[in-house]
Amino acid sequence: MRTDDPTILLLPPDIDRDVPFALSWFQRPEGHATLLSMGNAEHEIELSTIESETAILHDFIELEEQRKQITRMIIVDHKTIGVVWIELQEHHNVQPPSIHIMIGNPDYRGKGIGKSVMQTAINYMKNTLHIDTIYSRHLANNAIVANLNQSLGFKKDGSPYTDSNGLVWQSIKMNV
Ligand SMILES: CC(C)(COP(=O)(O)OP(=O)(O)OC[C@H]1O[C@@H](n2cnc3c(N)ncnc32)[C@H](O)[C@@H]1OP(=O)(O)O)[C@@H](O)C(=O)NCCC(=O)NCCS
Repeated sequence: MRTDDPTILLLPPDIDRDVPFALSWFQRPEGHATLLSMGNAEHEIELSTIESETAILHDFIELEEQRKQITRMIIVDHKTIGVVWIELQEHHNVQPPSIHIMIGNPDYRGKGIGKSVMQTAINYMKNTLHIDTIYSRHLANNAIVANLNQSLGFKKDGSPYTDSNGLVWQSIKMNV
């Protein structure tokens, strides 16, 4: 997967390279808000440790080997600043194939990186995986990701729904 911008690299997860960065995203003051904006319930959020971040990256690698998920770490300025992933199986009631993104390092938000990476992953799903409908979901009150997804061509897929944690989600989909 390659973006049009040579300064934004998308690389498969690498535990040694990525764990220190992932840890730094969640250990800074904004880390908790990032996890909440992604749809983690307050009571589910645990302290981020080297062990927990290693386990998450391990899962990404294993899921890719099992062809259940494709994960690419977003690298800018030699730093891992976020992650984009394509789920090829149903997860949290989201129909596959679905796409998700997080710019974990807040210093790199609002610079067009999220949009460029999402467009690259959508093109990959269309041209390489030959997918014609892409699904996703976001918290109904996450205006930034709602704007981002709308600008990429996603449409609302039904009415908002509330999960067992009381979080309100909007399902979205796009025909490519
Ligand atoms: C949501 C997120 C992926 C967007 O990535 P980004 O690199 O910050 O966004 P971009 O700079 O590429 O902007 C893309 C679009 O998002 C919207 N957007 C970005 N920043 C915004 C802001 N502060 N307010 C409202 N809309 C905003 C705009 O529509 C923008 O498109 P435009 O510039 O053509 O108008 C990123 O901010 C993020 O990961 N945030 C925290 C976690 C999260 O909410 N993830 C999504 C969970 S589903």
